[in-house]
Amino acid sequence: MVAAVRVHKPGGPEALTFEDIEVPAPGPGQIRIKQHASGLNYIDTYIRTGAYPAPLPFVVGNEGAGEVTAVGSGVTDFKVGDRVGYVVTLGGYSAERVLPADRAVKLPDNISFEQAAGMMLKGMTVEYLVQRTFKLQKGHTALVHAAAGGIGLLIGQWANHIGATVIGTVGSKEKAELARANGYHHTILYRDENFVDRVKEITKGEMCEVVYDGVGKDTFPASLDCIKPLGMFVSFGSASGPIDAFNIGILQTKGSLFATRPTLNTYNAKRDALVKSAADLFKVVGSGAVKIPINQKYALKDAQKAHRDLEGRKTTGSSILLP
Ligand SMILES: NC(=O)c1ccc[n+]([C@@H]2O[C@H](COP(=O)([O-])OP(=O)(O)OC[C@H]3O[C@@H](n4cnc5c(N)ncnc54)[C@H](OP(=O)(O)O)[C@@H]3O)[C@@H](O)[C@H]2O)c1
Repeated sequence: MVAAVRVHKPGGPEALTFEDIEVPAPGPGQIRIKQHASGLNYIDTYIRTGAYPAPLPFVVGNEGAGEVTAVGSGVTDFKVGDRVGYVVTLGGYSAERVLPADRAVKLPDNISFEQAAGMMLKGMTVEYLVQRTFKLQKGHTALVHAAAGGIGLLIGQWANHIGATVIGTVGSKEKAELARANGYHHTILYRDENFVDRVKEITKGEMCEVVYDGVGKDTFPASLDCIKPLGMFVSFGSASGPIDAFNIGILQTKGSLFATRPTLNTYNAKRDALVKSAADLFKVVGSGAVKIPINQKYALKDAQKAHRDLEGRKTTGSSILLP
């Protein structure tokens, strides 16, 4: 039996139960790993509440890192003792787990288990957002909401590394300071200031090529007013709740805009894409261009507190859970 955090009935943070579970031997195409750390992500809260339904009961968590302890038949890419990181829907908050081998990647020696648990999901998301959803380039200006969050601190650093001008919205002065230390050239206190007016002022009326919006309800449709004609609105999350249905005609009136609602699962569905995405992430982290700020560590048994802190806007950067 191993320690894990499960949900038997969707709900608030109290729905997370710390208990012992059985972990089977790996089946064909699977590996079993002893986890050294698991990642905490906003999506874990959508799944916990049932907003993204999952078959009950389930082990929460979509990201982690550990050491291979057994391999199933047909697995040739991994052996016992390999250090791996992964993104897999569910099963993350557990001291040991089984996962499909084709969803794992080997960790380079210069990436620790804790770093990997804090970056596989968030970092590969940032990789596709800045390199594939909207190919950010030197000279572009990007607006990023929730700049001091897990995704936010990584986009700021990566976009700055590319040579873009990065503007971030944040919920407090402390978060603004942190965002500026992580690549952002300008920050906006969006709970106190009108962020459209501030973007206009900062860009001298030019506005942005792209808005990366993981906040959702509270920042829509104002985000569209921060984009140049023919620019792109990237709605990649809904920390404040989902965006209400809207008339596509709004994209015409706001300047022939493009809008997309991407997800990592689509971008890294194929093994080749996953391997390349992870390699690009390891490269920017390995070179020191992007640092993984693990600003909160929780014991696995304290998962309820971790979720309360995340939803209460108390966390910054990445958070991990330790078995
Ligand atoms: N599409 C994808 O592939 C993908 C992958 C990973 C994550 N995501 C999305 O990316 C977003 C960020 O994820 P994360 O794990 O890095 O979380 P996070 O940014 O660390 O935490 C969420 C942040 O959102 C801000 N926020 C604004 N309104 C909020 C509200 N009403 N309640 C709570 N927080 C609010 C808070 O920052 P302030 O206090 O500064 O406002 C909070 O710290 C989420 O929407 C997530 O679903 C999408």
